[in-house]
Amino acid sequence: MDAKLAALVALLALLGPVACHGASIICLGGWVRPVPSLLGGGLVCPGNLTSYPLKKGPAPSASVLKVGYYNSSSSNACPNAEDIVRKVVEDAVSKDPGTGAGLIRLFFHDCFVRGCDASVLLRNTSGSSEQTEMFGLPNINSLRGFEVIDAAKAALEAACPGVVSCADTLAFAARDASSVLSGGRISSFAMPAGRHDGRVSLANETTDNLPGPFCDLNALNNFFAAKGLDTDDMVTLSGAHTIGQARCAFVSNRTDMNATLAKDLRDKCMSGGNTKVALDYKTPDTMDVQYYQNVNDDDVVLDSDAALSSPATKPLVDTYVAGSSGNLWETKFAAAMVKMGSIEVKTSPGADAEIRKKCSIYN
Ligand code: HEM
Repeated sequence: MDAKLAALVALLALLGPVACHGASIICLGGWVRPVPSLLGGGLVCPGNLTSYPLKKGPAPSASVLKVGYYNSSSSNACPNAEDIVRKVVEDAVSKDPGTGAGLIRLFFHDCFVRGCDASVLLRNTSGSSEQTEMFGLPNINSLRGFEVIDAAKAALEAACPGVVSCADTLAFAARDASSVLSGGRISSFAMPAGRHDGRVSLANETTDNLPGPFCDLNALNNFFAAKGLDTDDMVTLSGAHTIGQARCAFVSNRTDMNATLAKDLRDKCMSGGNTKVALDYKTPDTMDVQYYQNVNDDDVVLDSDAALSSPATKPLVDTYVAGSSGNLWETKFAAAMVKMGSIEVKTSPGADAEIRKKCSIYN
């Protein structure tokens, strides 16, 4: 099924322009491009792939997690845990900034599916032979940074066996990557911890929970609301698209895109749907507010990014551009990462929660 969908996505990328911007039809969570109806008029989902199952979720509560969780003198002490992760992340990001983008996205994709429980890192799942999240359409051949988490976890296990969860390791790593890639403008902010790792991970839950690139503003808001996050959080966290890459299969065909970017994408994407392009071609490896300027200039790669120029969200986009000297976005991004990091966390051991020994395998 997933291989077929990936082929379908690649095929659809080769189709001619479709006016997706503002489309109100959402195919497979926004991960598949709607196509013009053969019956004439409007857009349809190829192969009846519509899925859009969302309902509002409770606001995540940070109070169940604790800042400095591993510093305590109790049985979960691992005083150097955050330093250990930071060092591994700094080394990896200095060699390849793309790894940092990968870590930030891994954290998002973890938290939005079954909460921040490292389910995205599992290669197999408890009680089933189903494929895991990493093989879902949004993730397969796309997520990166797994080896950094494995290296950090190995160093943590050597220092304090069985203490630090993979979910916390990922949360620290995403925080550290943000801080490094922003040149310290995003501070090394306090990331509360105490998450346990899940044992279940299912590929077919990814498109139901992760917003796709063909989502319009309404769909984006709904995906975030389902996790207890609001429009402000959605706009703020979308700023992560100031770094990293997207595959051509997902780029926008909107007709009002900045002409220079449109031409660049046409040229680069001639070679197929799997070719990767920068999400922010102006400052591709630096976390900054250039992304929001790009939104204003119609200079963004994804329909979901372009959707932020809608009247309801443009004021916040403008505020981030205007507040660049005071690091307004950077401060709010840190807070939104903490809020996202509290989604549906598991905080005590049980049938569905543990401290994994290796992040890719449940114990
Ligand atoms: C608002 C809804 C969002 C949509 C529709 C979306 C969609 C996407 C898509 C389609 C890609 C390219 C994937 C590929 O081509 O394989 C991507 C990349 C990325 N996304 Fe998002 N995303 C969203 C929100 C977020 C959030 C909240 C974060 C983190 C806080 C994030 C971080 C990233 C990063 C860093 C990359 C680049 C990854 C890399 O280069 O490896 N995204 N996103």
